[in-house]
Amino acid sequence: MVSEEAKIKILALREELEEHNYKYYVLSKPTISDYDFDMKMKELEKLEKKFPEFDDPNSPSKRVGSDLTKEFMQVVHERPMLSLSNAYSKEELLDFDTRIKKLIEGDFTYVCELKFDGASISLTYKDGILERATTRGDGQQGDDVTANVRTIKSIPLKLRGDGYPRSFEIRGEILFPFDAFDELNREREQLGEPVFANPRNTASGTLKMQDPAIVASRKLDAYLFSIHGDNLPFDGHFENLQEAKGWGFKISDEIQQFQSIEEVLQYIEKWDKERFNLPVATDGVVIKVNSINLQNNLGATAKSPRWAIAYKFKAESASTILQEVIYQVGRTGAITPVANLKPVLLAGTTVKRASLHNADIIQNLGLHIGDTVYVEKGGEIIPKITGVDKDKRDVLARPVVFISKCPECNTQLVREEGEAAHYCPNEEGCPPQIKGKIEHFISRKALDIDGLGQETVDLLFEEGLISDVTGLYTLKKEQIAVLERLGDKSAERILTGLEQSKSAPFEKVLFALGIRFVGETVAKTLVTKLVNIENIKKASFEELTEINDIGGRIAQSVVDYFSSEKNLQLVDFLKGKGLQMEISKEKLENRTEKLKGLNIIISGTFQQFSREEIKGLIEQNGGKNVSSISKKTSYLVAGEKIGPSKLEKANKLGIPIISEDDLMNMLK
Ligand code: IVH
Repeated sequence: MVSEEAKIKILALREELEEHNYKYYVLSKPTISDYDFDMKMKELEKLEKKFPEFDDPNSPSKRVGSDLTKEFMQVVHERPMLSLSNAYSKEELLDFDTRIKKLIEGDFTYVCELKFDGASISLTYKDGILERATTRGDGQQGDDVTANVRTIKSIPLKLRGDGYPRSFEIRGEILFPFDAFDELNREREQLGEPVFANPRNTASGTLKMQDPAIVASRKLDAYLFSIHGDNLPFDGHFENLQEAKGWGFKISDEIQQFQSIEEVLQYIEKWDKERFNLPVATDGVVIKVNSINLQNNLGATAKSPRWAIAYKFKAESASTILQEVIYQVGRTGAITPVANLKPVLLAGTTVKRASLHNADIIQNLGLHIGDTVYVEKGGEIIPKITGVDKDKRDVLARPVVFISKCPECNTQLVREEGEAAHYCPNEEGCPPQIKGKIEHFISRKALDIDGLGQETVDLLFEEGLISDVTGLYTLKKEQIAVLERLGDKSAERILTGLEQSKSAPFEKVLFALGIRFVGETVAKTLVTKLVNIENIKKASFEELTEINDIGGRIAQSVVDYFSSEKNLQLVDFLKGKGLQMEISKEKLENRTEKLKGLNIIISGTFQQFSREEIKGLIEQNGGKNVSSISKKTSYLVAGEKIGPSKLEKANKLGIPIISEDDLMNMLK
């Protein structure tokens, strides 16, 4: 393909993919399958790599996140980001209405919006291009989190159409949708990592992460709710937001205009109930005077505007009886206490259970069996116990004492210093932990064994056909085919799936073993560096922590894993069955020691390779990727648009600065 042709194709693909992103992430109305989307993206990536002269940082292919941020730059807000004054009752809203009416002569309208419960963000656009994203900070200045925000697919990098002002600011809320949040927590649970408490804190924590690639993997979303600038199309806030929808922003469809405070109250009443059906967290309704002219006339106090108020939803609360506390054992052995309650109606659903999270919570509440407790549904989906009515307690009531032995296998529980949770340490003999290990082994991201899922694993385990992953490889067709819900066909599928797992790459096998803290990325790093299972088995704590990205916690876990006789036997068994226990020939052949002992930092964007590819090449050739410049850095590989602070620091420390070509020459 000649250059001119390629350019046309690249531009067309970018436009088409942005259009699909908009339909999927903003309108929630996709018109193409995920597969077709991926194919088009791959085509674009291939062309962009071949024709780097048409590089564009706003290409949809660049939303994967790059460049680590050590410290966020502080940005002073052009207009301070104020907060809203709150109202908790109808009376307070009527007072607000009276105040406004005293200050405004003539007719005006109110706009009602949902109050999204996430992290505030300010975005600035120049000539239709996202220029900067800043957190609220202290209201006067915030952190520049542009690199992270660029990975959020519902935020346009380039605006649609041409009706937008040349320069303007738009503010909104970054949210972690409940579905994506639950999925993230499930994954963390599988890896034995602590789960996050709620979507709001996780959204703001994610925004401040130093690695945009992790942010990109987290599926954040954003709703925008106010526009600021000199040349806005309308005087009405509502009309401007509707217009901004056409520029590609995600604006809530639930915004409504009203003439009277009575209608406002009805809107609140409706959302007080319906908010539980929304995909993201909300904690109230914001009421605003629509005309920007009137808003300016009304002005603001030091803290909040006079033209708006937030009505905060009451956390729905009910009282009921605590019948008993039961203890669940998770896949990693973590114990979760759960309160069984006398069923009670709360926010439209019957509540029978509440999570108690850990022993401290039980102790702080001072719970006794039979207590009258208050349950609330706040931002979280699972209700929680917020208090106890001690006056109603029976004199003979027994206090809840946290169990000391595992309810599944009777092993003494342990609680590590600094951790909130109790664990059952009997990894090898505790049924939910055994089943959890097998389920992880067969899961999609691990060996992805066709035909096997959680239910089938449970069934095979209950029937005594498997008691660990080795059992999978000795299963016979006749044993499976006779089980309930299975038959000849399923049995064949499972056996073929198991056979195919023998050709899965070593990094998948290593991940499938379920070593605590060894996720997909760590498994890949270990395989690239140490090549085969024998080297990994005998690697010492020190050798492991020498490897880039392997910290003490991971290293200790790997050492612990391979010091167990049972684990060593399992690995030998799997090796004997033919599973891959070393890096593929192709990957191995490309390895050299040419960069041995060198600490290399890369910065900017490159012509021939992506940043990830360059990092991979450095690792493959024995070098170490580092993320910040210090005296120990051997080279800075500078690409285009390299940050000036990095160059300055390298010059100051006398670190050699080389180009992509120089690096390639070193590898020749
Ligand atoms: S308007 C003067 N509208 O609530 C502030 N804010 O306490 C004008 N929020 O930091 C903000 N949903 O992040 C507005 N529909 C909405 C909102 C909203 C959530 C947040 C916002 C702000 C906080 C105000």
